Amino acid sequence: MTEMENPTATSTSDDLDPAQGLTGETLTLHVFKGEPGETGTEQAYEVPGVTGMVVLDAIHYIQRNLDTDLACRWNCKAAKCGSCSAEINGKPALLCKTRVDELPAGPITVRPLKAFPLVKDLVTDVSRNFEVNKEIPPFTPAKDDGKPWRVAQRDISRLREHRMCIECFLCQDVCHVLRDHDHSKRFYGPRFMVRVASLEMHPKDTLDRIDLTRKAGGMGYCNITKCCTEVCPEHIHITDNAIIPLKERYADRHWDPLRWVGRKLKGDGSKQAEGSK
Ligand code: SF4
Ligand code: SF4
Ligand code: FES
Repeated sequence: MTEMENPTATSTSDDLDPAQGLTGETLTLHVFKGEPGETGTEQAYEVPGVTGMVVLDAIHYIQRNLDTDLACRWNCKAAKCGSCSAEINGKPALLCKTRVDELPAGPITVRPLKAFPLVKDLVTDVSRNFEVNKEIPPFTPAKDDGKPWRVAQRDISRLREHRMCIECFLCQDVCHVLRDHDHSKRFYGPRFMVRVASLEMHPKDTLDRIDLTRKAGGMGYCNITKCCTEVCPEHIHITDNAIIPLKERYADRHWDPLRWVGRKLKGDGSKQAEGSK
């Protein structure tokens, strides 16, 4: 959604004046403009600096004062909705969480997420992620599991990290499997490894998604480079606390000789048979 389409959103930089803390500096932004089928260009804009401003403030200033046609998706301006993802100076980041005074001196380059199809300017089509999400069976407790549930604090603490995800898809954008190899049909991507982990580690869930995640989800494509973890604005340890545990569960199930014997005896390779929840 562009700012023009979002009447509830507010900007802090449209009426820049000294009372708002103008720094006296002029910022130069090189912002991508283009539509599908075009090569697009980087347009240069000059924006007055304001103390504490973030890159989204500069984009809003451009939209209101210099180029009303510039498209940018945003919503909360509080680093919580995950809408304003883009690439700032070549690195995936939230426009609303990136302060301009923390960037190196010189022009600031702002481009759309490279791993997703372009809609217009800084807006990309991230709907592929929601299709992936539909492939993952949702949380499914046992029908006869009495309530209220009692869940150990250590389980709650472990799951809380996964639930911090704001679905900004910066991790999907930076992952080389999706970005450089275009394996979006073969690899769920880091955000959805986090989702699977949150379900698999839930003590009240009864389903088993490990083999699905390895096969349809392409878990083996991940080579644990941790690029996804580095860009996550919620500081989720995507590789250490989601992908590696999922890989370990798969390896335990299929390559651990003791579990192999257990499977033979129980006649089932499922999570329930192994008691591995
Ligand atoms: S650690 Fe895995 S999921 Fe994360 S960016 Fe690297 S390959 Fe992609
Ligand atoms: S895991 Fe982090 S980077 Fe990936 S979508 Fe969630 S919040 Fe964004
Ligand atoms: S506008 Fe919501 S995360 Fe940036």
